[in-house]
Amino acid sequence: MMKKACRRREFLIGGTLAVGGTMLAGRVLGATESAVKAAGFKGFTQVDPGLFAGINRVANPEGKSILEKKHAPLIDIPAKIVAGQAFAVTLTMGEIAHPMGATHYIQNVDLLVGNEPAGHVEFRPEVATAKAMLYIRLDKPVTLVARAYCNLHGLWETRLEVAPVPSA
Ligand SMILES: [Fe+2]
Repeated sequence: MMKKACRRREFLIGGTLAVGGTMLAGRVLGATESAVKAAGFKGFTQVDPGLFAGINRVANPEGKSILEKKHAPLIDIPAKIVAGQAFAVTLTMGEIAHPMGATHYIQNVDLLVGNEPAGHVEFRPEVATAKAMLYIRLDKPVTLVARAYCNLHGLWETRLEVAPVPSA
């Protein structure tokens, strides 16, 4: 009987502390909010969580959104690719240079030749421009795939069909 009463008392004390703690936290939060408002902080724009649900691609190449222009990798290659000869593939993020900073930056880019991984480049926030150059060689027509990952806006992909001409 005595044990039950003790447990009930402990429960009531715990409950009272929890309620008091919540009220105190509410008061502290309220004070923080007013300090934040006084400092001129205007909040932040909520990132669309749907961007992390899969691979993002440009919906309409003729009418890219700002988000697409900043994230979809550009794949630059020479006008003429000769079978068996190495050439440079330049990957740039993006059409509008993506910001690079401590809280928002391109973390990495991958290049695939068809389904085969051909290269992976990591970027640090201190990098001025998210741009990479890799040298590859092709023997047959293939799709180049570039995938860039932004820490705030997810994974972005661009594809480019390449058809090398036979070597002389
Ligand atoms: Fe981004």
